[in-house]
Amino acid sequence: MRIPGIRDYVIEKLQCILNPRSIAVIGASRDPNKIGHQIVKNLIESGYKGRIYPVNPKANEILGLKCYASVKDIPDMVDLVVISVPAPIVRKVVQECAEKGVNGIAIITAGFSEVGNKKEEDEIVEIARKHKIPILGPNIVGILNSTYKMNASFAPKLPFSGKIALISQSGALIIGLIGWTWLYRVGLSKVISIGNKADIDFSELIVYLTEKDPDTNTIAIYMEGTDAGPELVEACRRAAGKKPIVILKAGFSKRGELATMSHTGSMAGSARIYKAAFLQSYVIQAEDLFDLYDKALALSLQPPAMSDRILVITNGGGAGVLATDAAEKYGIPLSDTPPDLAERLKKYMPPFGSTKNPVDLTGQANEDWYYGAIVEAVKHPDVGGIVVIYCHTAITDPMKIGVRISEATKIARDYKKPIVVCFIGGREVEGTSNWLKEQGIPTYPTPARAIKAMAALREYGRIIERIKKRQQ
Ligand code: COA
Repeated sequence: MRIPGIRDYVIEKLQCILNPRSIAVIGASRDPNKIGHQIVKNLIESGYKGRIYPVNPKANEILGLKCYASVKDIPDMVDLVVISVPAPIVRKVVQECAEKGVNGIAIITAGFSEVGNKKEEDEIVEIARKHKIPILGPNIVGILNSTYKMNASFAPKLPFSGKIALISQSGALIIGLIGWTWLYRVGLSKVISIGNKADIDFSELIVYLTEKDPDTNTIAIYMEGTDAGPELVEACRRAAGKKPIVILKAGFSKRGELATMSHTGSMAGSARIYKAAFLQSYVIQAEDLFDLYDKALALSLQPPAMSDRILVITNGGGAGVLATDAAEKYGIPLSDTPPDLAERLKKYMPPFGSTKNPVDLTGQANEDWYYGAIVEAVKHPDVGGIVVIYCHTAITDPMKIGVRISEATKIARDYKKPIVVCFIGGREVEGTSNWLKEQGIPTYPTPARAIKAMAALREYGRIIERIKKRQQ
């Protein structure tokens, strides 16, 4: 069924914008310090396999590629046009794109509605809509697709590859967050900068990513505001149960609201209205950037938790207490270990260990105890998910523990139960934490962050339950 306000041609052509077969860069400068030059360089260096057409009337060749005076001179169909010329020239270039019949446009250029130049922005959109050419931007950093190795942006490199599509209203934030993806092993499929979103808004991207993009299983959004609230709600409701959506909404403070206005020309709106809309549309909300990544990472790597019964397994009592507090705070309060499971868990701890929830294997816990305890818990019907905590000690090898946790997680997958891990320590645990994430196991440095990630998996489980009820 169609969603009012969601345009079919946009959904169809987003394929050409996000996975283009050919790209023209307008404003492909001869100067290596200019954005247009860097975009061509990024396309080449990222390993993009499609055809690249630099456009600059003053150049014959850029970075070894033949240069064209206008998009109209390119002797081939063009899927995506990336525009990086000053604002006063953009309207003319968009007109030429319309005459050429390109499939989509990304406008990097700033200097439109965010600085009060709404008139020119509207004129550009009018031309594009008349010719059914969707526009991303203006005022964006570009588009990155890690699956197809395409960096059509001036961000320095592609993100660490994974299944999360990140949509951001802030371009600079994207550049910073790409660095984090490598540092923290948060895998992204696509990064889409939408800036002033003069034409394409969040809702159409959500519909495309949910229904047409097999490379994405989770959608993460940094949002300042939208004028298309009903479409956003409907797109999120339609995505619910298919792919989780996590949104970090910024600009709720008085001055924050003013800042969003001058940044992307968006009205931030009241926190109450947004929060109610997100709740109604099955959106998982994030509090800050770490929270956005932490939740999206867990949702992209693990199945949802289909019961409230979360078991914490730790080798440190303090870490267990912190996890217990966090579980209550984030809506998944711990309950007692089922008695028959408690009995079985005794095999994997010394007599002074604790089988209560949190289960304390004690500081002398070795990798086989971790493995045994996790597998027992996974197999128990009254356990819906497991948070595994490891505090580094001088007598244990984090990698050996990590490997056994990974083996146990493979069994958990058969039972469709999520596992989230917390590794506490310094450099000694960093390598194993990253390795665990590469194995598909979300791993965090504090009990609270691990519990919050599990709470997001439970929240998504509840969303699935609500949708099933709605359909009955
Ligand atoms: N078609 C193609 N190229 C054209 C052109 C046309 N009609 N007219 C001019 N050009 C060429 C220029 O000659 C120049 O190439 P050259 O350096 O080889 O001479 C190139 O396009 C770029 O034009 P220039 O005037 O040098 O602009 P610029 O590169 O300094 O700035 C922008 C262009 C888009 C980068 C700038 O206007 C801008 O908006 N910057 C902010 C971008 C931003 O922050 N976006 C948001 C990110 S979050």
